Amino acid sequence: MIETRRRALVQNVLNADLPVAVRGRGVWLQDDAGRRYFDACSGAVVSALGHAHPRIVAAIADQAARLTFVHRGAFAPEPTLRLAERLTALTGYAAAWLVGSGSEAVEAAMQFALQYHRETGRPERQWFLSHRRGYHGNTLGGLSLSGHGRRAVVGDLAYAFAELEAPATRRDPSPAAERLHTDQLLAGARAALERNRDRIAAIVVEPVGGATLGATVPPDGYLPGLRSLADEFGALLVFDEVLSGMGRTGRVLAADHWGVRADLVALGKGLGAGYASIAGVLLDAPVLDAIAAGSGRIAGGHTYGGNPLAAATALAVLDVMEQERLVERAERTGAVLRLLLDRLAAAHPVVAEVRGIGMLQAVELELDPGAAPGVTAARFAENARAAGAIVYVATGGFLDAVLVAPPLVTTEAELQVLVGMLESALTTFESTVPSRGIQDRSRSEGGSGPDPARGLDIA
Ligand SMILES: Cc1ncc(COP(=O)(O)O)c(C=O)c1O
Repeated sequence: MIETRRRALVQNVLNADLPVAVRGRGVWLQDDAGRRYFDACSGAVVSALGHAHPRIVAAIADQAARLTFVHRGAFAPEPTLRLAERLTALTGYAAAWLVGSGSEAVEAAMQFALQYHRETGRPERQWFLSHRRGYHGNTLGGLSLSGHGRRAVVGDLAYAFAELEAPATRRDPSPAAERLHTDQLLAGARAALERNRDRIAAIVVEPVGGATLGATVPPDGYLPGLRSLADEFGALLVFDEVLSGMGRTGRVLAADHWGVRADLVALGKGLGAGYASIAGVLLDAPVLDAIAAGSGRIAGGHTYGGNPLAAATALAVLDVMEQERLVERAERTGAVLRLLLDRLAAAHPVVAEVRGIGMLQAVELELDPGAAPGVTAARFAENARAAGAIVYVATGGFLDAVLVAPPLVTTEAELQVLVGMLESALTTFESTVPSRGIQDRSRSEGGSGPDPARGLDIA
């Protein structure tokens, strides 16, 4: 018998009985039954300014009354010009290309890398290297870079690019172990570059792990080492900062923590902060100059890319970030969040690790050997929801972690409320853990790992 679908809306899990969201204010969301939820992960690490920020609401109304759309083939929209100037001034990159989503931004960065090599006489450089367990979006290009379980959906249509090991979770933090880990990661990257000599257009990585890697922070030498390797082998370096950028980690770009510049940077999520669907690519001068000296044209583009309404909204987001000093605040508040989560971990042995940077933290749970990766975290997320907090379950089917990444505007008092909810969720969770026990798992992702096709995709 065919089951009747409850909603006309196609949802990821078709019959999921998700609450109906009707309103948001600050860190709180409300459903149609009047129930409140703490938005503990800013949606999907998006709503950096919380909900219904009055300055953003006013800016949207103002721009909507002026001009919402012109095509970029006919006009350079005034707010879009200003946004590009603000982004380049903020980051030091030479120019910005604007699109509508993180996936489009990653796809555009890939195309810029290919174009750069074509226009500088190396058209054979058409392949990419990326972390085996990273996430770079839901398009064919992005999925080809990602090890996400969603790859299974497109089967062989995703390119089988060579893969790099990402920094491991649950590491030994001693300096000697970190150095050894860095050396191992970079040796792997060097070997992949040697095997694919003169074919790699770019190395594409998330500077700090996001949706699939659950806030994994790289060892200090890793990103500088990748930069050197990219230079040595003539490949570009692309940072996918769709999730980690725009102040989330306590720096404008996460890679700023290590002082490393990429050739191309993908931005998204926090750029529109949930108020507009806007994303972009920052281009460093050598890439821009090569294209300018070559064809002088960008062949790509999307109809809504950089539209005036979205650009004015992102400009207002930048204004608020500046006025409320949200990047600095993310570092400070993130340290408090970390302290509170560490205390929780100390009191609840089911927490395997708390990790992250700034306002991008993750709580990883001990693996239930009877369950596929992701199931335990999803169960905990249900407990958190029942306690009033929405957390983001790491996707891809690699680990049992939830992201705790509240809006950057969250106050310390609000953090206390949130951590109280997580504490209550952990207590409920522990009371239902199968007694045969949760056990330790591989400390590195270097092992054989789960089959991505088994991955849950519930976020
Ligand atoms: C690092 C990273 N890149 C790209 C994307 C894709 O962005 P979007 O979902 O806006 O297309 C995501 C989304 O989670 C992401 O985390």
